[in-house]
Amino acid sequence: MNELKKELNRRKVPSVRTIHQKTAHDLAEWKTLREEIRTTVLQEEYGELPPVLLPKIAVEKKPALVENSIWEEVTFEFEQNEKRHVVPTQLLLPASVEKVPVVVYLNFRADVPDEYLPAREILSQGYGLFVVCYTDATTDDGDFENGLAGLFQEGERKPHERGKIAYWAYMASRMQDYLRTREEVDPSKIGVAGHSRLGKTALVAAATDERFSFVCANDSGCSGAAISRGRNAGGERLSDICKNFPYWFTINWQRYVDKEDELPFDQHHLLALIAPRAAYIGGATEDIWADNESQFLCCVAASEIWELYGERGIISPNGMPVAGESRTDGCVGFYLREGKHFHTLEDWNFGLKAVTRYLENRREKLCK
Ligand code: GCU
Repeated sequence: MNELKKELNRRKVPSVRTIHQKTAHDLAEWKTLREEIRTTVLQEEYGELPPVLLPKIAVEKKPALVENSIWEEVTFEFEQNEKRHVVPTQLLLPASVEKVPVVVYLNFRADVPDEYLPAREILSQGYGLFVVCYTDATTDDGDFENGLAGLFQEGERKPHERGKIAYWAYMASRMQDYLRTREEVDPSKIGVAGHSRLGKTALVAAATDERFSFVCANDSGCSGAAISRGRNAGGERLSDICKNFPYWFTINWQRYVDKEDELPFDQHHLLALIAPRAAYIGGATEDIWADNESQFLCCVAASEIWELYGERGIISPNGMPVAGESRTDGCVGFYLREGKHFHTLEDWNFGLKAVTRYLENRREKLCK
């Protein structure tokens, strides 16, 4: 661990307990400071999520994907300022005598299963899935007049106003609202997952909606789970992401291009907002762009907040895992798969195994 702390110091990564020269020394102080951290992260990076709307819901049954499960198409109809937007989602639940855990999954496509979504295998592990194609919420571009963005954005975006990631995260929270109305679902076991830009989104959803009890963020990289300061060669930097995808973020985020040292926070502050719930971060060996070391360091730097809650953060006495290994015995974890940038069955297995252990441990503690 000492080597890791040295690397964090070399990169001048600020303590996760500190922002704007204020430091939280204990849990009570953290609970106050975290609100300031959340406000700052949103103001500078993603934007505040829109106010909650109560959509009209329509449910249509579909043929089950596997035996002993259900599949329903759940349609959300949002209305605001005399504008309407409809988002189709897919709900798949395994039959069970007990209430089931469910993963809200933001995907690049609407297909179930999909190359990123081995739905049969996930259901067979006892997890339900609630899936949305992210561009059905609002498009992945600089147009803020369509979809959910069109319902809320008034005129030109101001520097602190939300980018597209905040809208996708908002959709995940509205899906959670609906899941909590379903009696088959255990409301204390609803999590959120995503890959790449949607891994970033899953982290924002979990950081802003405390009802999510776990998050799995795969290959989320820059402006996701990777520390921005002192990036490794070949890793995506703020200058890249702000040039190619400015609309994912606030306009404020541009101010830190090539000035990462001036950031009042780093990505471990985002991760720490999820404490004491579970956060599992996935990387792939050939995904240099997402910078695995920076993602792993983020887990290490955020972990002390879990300890303030009396929980374990990442447990990794021997440093970073090698390919095929996971460090997921704590409430924060990192796993590394051999291969390219992708959301594979192996990633899902690492993540769900970690979540299952987390939920089991939590139950044991509650029973004591
Ligand atoms: C680009 C982008 C990444 C992002 C990825 C994706 O590569 O630079 O930050 O994670 O797209 O979402 O597929």
